[in-house]
Amino acid sequence: MGDYTNMSAYYDVIMTSGYYDYDAIADSILSCPPFNNLLEIGCGTGLILDTLAQRRPDIHMTGMDLTQAMLDIASARLKHHRHISLCQANVITFDLQRQFDLAFSYGGVWYFVSDGQNEPFMVSHLAEHSDNEQGLAHLARHLSSNSLLLLGIQGPHHDYAKPISNGMIYSQKISPWDHGFIKDYFLHDGTEKVMEQNLTYRIYSMREAQAMMEKVGLHYEADLIKDHRFIGFRKS
Ligand SMILES: C[S@@+](CC[C@H](N)C(=O)[O-])C[C@H]1O[C@@H](n2cnc3c(N)ncnc32)[C@H](O)[C@@H]1O
Repeated sequence: MGDYTNMSAYYDVIMTSGYYDYDAIADSILSCPPFNNLLEIGCGTGLILDTLAQRRPDIHMTGMDLTQAMLDIASARLKHHRHISLCQANVITFDLQRQFDLAFSYGGVWYFVSDGQNEPFMVSHLAEHSDNEQGLAHLARHLSSNSLLLLGIQGPHHDYAKPISNGMIYSQKISPWDHGFIKDYFLHDGTEKVMEQNLTYRIYSMREAQAMMEKVGLHYEADLIKDHRFIGFRKS
């Protein structure tokens, strides 16, 4: 289901040690045709919303996430941005009773993986296929006609261990699963293990992902984002 409670206290230090480039992600989203409001699905600790809001305080932003511990950090980070709302919800069942001009997810719930050569594939934090269908249907209901859905593109996953800025060692281990993969996350302080998280991810080929999106009125648009940090879909 994608619960990040275990990692939440260390999430920022791991991510800001070079895991994601938040300035580049914000540039990419803001390169889209003008929009007045946006929704981030799986906003985590609010690092992307904060970067976006510093550049565009005029855009109303909503962040939703499953994990309350992540949202608590987002709430503290974003307290000075009065045009940002946060909401704890599961994408499978969420209903915010409103529609958005643009929705995006970067590493949250759904994302694409590309090695730059083969066709990208979609990765989901939702292990059950029926949950993916239901979540996408709920998401589509939050998108106004002609709005955009952007799903972030990441490089291939692999096992590694590296020091982060607080001196601890972050590591991740990928194991195969029938419909995708299992990812174990660890943080060690010397020999002491200070964090462990285990998530199961489902994989969809590009063709399967596009078919699921089409079912809920979301149409793939090639080259919508010129820097290829996101794959874009337009709501009919
Ligand atoms: C890797 S973090 C990405 C956070 C943020 N987008 C960022 O770039 O830092 C993934 C987030 O997706 C959230 N998530 C996972 N499954 C979810 C679900 N079913 N509904 C809503 N959020 C979910 C997790 O709680 C977590 O905060």
